[in-house]
Amino acid sequence: MLFELHHGNCINVLPEFLGRGFDAVITDPPLNFGHEDFPGSAANWRDKYEDGTAQRQLAGLIRECVKPGAVAVVFFDTRALPAVSRAWKEAGWHYRRALTVRRAQSPRCWEGWWVASDIALVFSAPGLPSYSHSAGGDVLEPGPESAHPVGKPIGALREIVRNICPPGGTVLDPFMGSGPVGEACRLEGRGFVGVESDAHWFNVAKAKAA
Ligand SMILES: C[S@@+](CC[C@H](N)C(=O)[O-])C[C@H]1O[C@@H](n2cnc3c(N)ncnc32)[C@H](O)[C@@H]1O
Repeated sequence: MLFELHHGNCINVLPEFLGRGFDAVITDPPLNFGHEDFPGSAANWRDKYEDGTAQRQLAGLIRECVKPGAVAVVFFDTRALPAVSRAWKEAGWHYRRALTVRRAQSPRCWEGWWVASDIALVFSAPGLPSYSHSAGGDVLEPGPESAHPVGKPIGALREIVRNICPPGGTVLDPFMGSGPVGEACRLEGRGFVGVESDAHWFNVAKAKAA
C-alpha cells in the first residue's frame, strides 16, 4: 500500500502532487495558517482567522491533486469557520455537511469560552462522487487520542477513512502533525500521503509508520 511522508511546507510540496488523483483528503490545518501574511500584531487576529486568502490558495491547490468527486474532510478551529467555508467554496469545492467528533475534554480551551468538540466540514470536488460508503451519523466517537496537543482521535478518523476512501485508495493529508490520519489509513487498508513542516512532528509520524 502506498505510504509517503513528506517533510516541508505543503504550499511548496503540493504542486509536486498535481494530477495525482488522490481519492480523498482528511486534514487539520493550523488555525493561523497564512499567519505570515499578517506578521506580528495581536491587533489583527481577526484578519488572521477571518481572511481566507491563504485558505483559498490551499483549497485550490488541493483540488488539483484529487480525483473528480473526491471528498475532503477539513477540521478547523471554529473561530475560522467563516473563512474556511468561504475559501473552500470559492476554490471550487461543493459544501456537503459538517461532522462533529465528540470530545469529553477538548484540547482547546481559550479565553474562558465554551470547550468545543471537534468540527469538520465536508466538501466534494466537482464531478460525480467517486466513492461513498454507507455513512453513519454526523456525530463521531473519538476512540484513542493522537499524540499532538491539538490532535485528532484515531477512532473517528478510521470511520471517516472508511466512509470517504475506497479500499486500496489513497488519502492526502497536507498537515499531518503526528500522523493519526496515516495511522487510520494503515488500519483500514488505505494508502496515505502526508506532509508536515515541523521536524519534531514529522519525526513522530515517521517513527509511528516504521
Ligand atoms: C492542527 S495540527 C495537526 C495535528 C494532527 N491532526 C494530529 O492529530 O497530530 C497542524 C499541523 O500542521 C503543521 N503545519 C503548519 N503549517 C504547515 C504547512 N504550511 N505545511 C505543512 N504542515 C504545516 C503544524 O506543524 C501542525 O503539526
